[in-house]
Amino acid sequence: MPLSRAAAAELLAEVPLFSHCSKRELATVAKLANEVRLPADHILMSEDARVAYSFFVLIEGAAEVRRGRRVVARLGPGDFFGELALILRRPRTATVTLTAPSRLLAISAHNFKPLLIESPEMQFKLLETLAERLTAATD
Ligand code: CMP
Repeated sequence: MPLSRAAAAELLAEVPLFSHCSKRELATVAKLANEVRLPADHILMSEDARVAYSFFVLIEGAAEVRRGRRVVARLGPGDFFGELALILRRPRTATVTLTAPSRLLAISAHNFKPLLIESPEMQFKLLETLAERLTAATD
């Protein structure tokens, strides 16, 4: 379901990835993102999957990131995932499973790059999070 303008303003304001975006950038996000509600235990992406359809931002709920049998991260509201396969054009690096009923924004692979090109703020936030995840992974 595409976001209405009111829903977009309410949802996107809470998400750090979008917090420094201009009104124009937010309008673009609202146009390109779909809101989805999914139950606990739903698997959003599987490690090694060769086809990557979407990037996700968790609005409400929780998710677990697993590589092999190891849980490498637990994600909550405001966190995002699914960017690596889209940026690198490689298989998914991890399996992401919801651990609670969740509300998410889904941005298709097709729209992900145009969205980033439109917004240097989003590029920087993404980079910041990637750097944090890299630091955590190499600690
Ligand atoms: P992608 O490889 O497209 O699909 C799996 C996603 O899990 C990946 O993108 C990241 O968004 C996320 N992910 C992988 N490894 C980690 C990690 N160590 N910490 C947090 N998220 C991760």
